[in-house]
Amino acid sequence: MSNEARKETTLECCAREVGIHPSTLRNYLEHARWRSAKFHAAIKQPNWWERLQHDVIEAELDRRVSDVGPPGFAALTDEQILAILAERGPQVRQWVETYDGRSAVLLGPTGIGKSIAAFCVLRRAKRVEARQELKREGWSPASYQDDRWPDSESRFRGGWIAAQDLLVAQRGHPLGQGEASEVRKAKTGRLVVIDDITWPTRHDLTREVMAARYDAGLPTIVTAGERMARLFGADMFGDAFGRRCLDLRGEQGDVVEDFGGK
Ligand SMILES: Nc1ncnc2c1ncn2[C@@H]1O[C@H](COP(=O)(O)OP(=O)(O)OP(=O)(O)O)[C@@H](O)[C@H]1O
Ligand SMILES: [Mg+2]
Repeated sequence: MSNEARKETTLECCAREVGIHPSTLRNYLEHARWRSAKFHAAIKQPNWWERLQHDVIEAELDRRVSDVGPPGFAALTDEQILAILAERGPQVRQWVETYDGRSAVLLGPTGIGKSIAAFCVLRRAKRVEARQELKREGWSPASYQDDRWPDSESRFRGGWIAAQDLLVAQRGHPLGQGEASEVRKAKTGRLVVIDDITWPTRHDLTREVMAARYDAGLPTIVTAGERMARLFGADMFGDAFGRRCLDLRGEQGDVVEDFGGK
């Protein structure tokens, strides 16, 4: 018997064991990104079917949050991000690991991982939302029907904005037609990261977004390459802005100022 034929037989046996069609099992394996080697190792364990269903759900969550943040970060796993932070920005890493939903200001020199840390926290929050959405929809691995997965595209965009993209979005938006959708999302999103708030140097729109979020009591994570005293000093954003960044319905947010020994 050829290898291909043997694999097919194994697949058919396993599908029969759990009462599904072999092509459905093949789609489960594809969706969960189980390659042949993983499948053949997994079926040596009695709980392979539970594990596969679990991984199908996790892969569905991954898919739904795959557009959170800049495309360059999407391929990074949480573990990779934490490993980078362990090396470059241990304080920022600790903030990620203990994040509890508050507003935060992440400050430090270039490359310590402010942006990937904010991204990691945002993606985790979106994953929680996506899991709730799956429950609401009644989505399960058994939802695979008629040779397709029901609408499983990414739906959790909108929590990440670079401060300069706020300006670009508003500039590209026709005058007299309200505000750009990116700006509206930045003002109203459940949790929003505003990356690199000192760039651009015109801050009006960033201030406006922050004021709207503060009034609505929504948590925001901002990143910048400046020290706190300068960032919220009179020459830059001012202390009223600082309060808006950190105060969430009377609860103080986190400031992570990771400039090492400098
Ligand atoms: N897609 C990626 N793949 C691998 N490593 C990455 C990726 N993106 C960033 N990194 C690494 O993570 C580190 C932290 O990057 P990050 O963009 O979070 O820094 P930052 O503190 O926001 O810097 P800046 O102030 O310049 O914005 C970088 O030094 C880089 O080595
Ligand atoms: Mg950055």
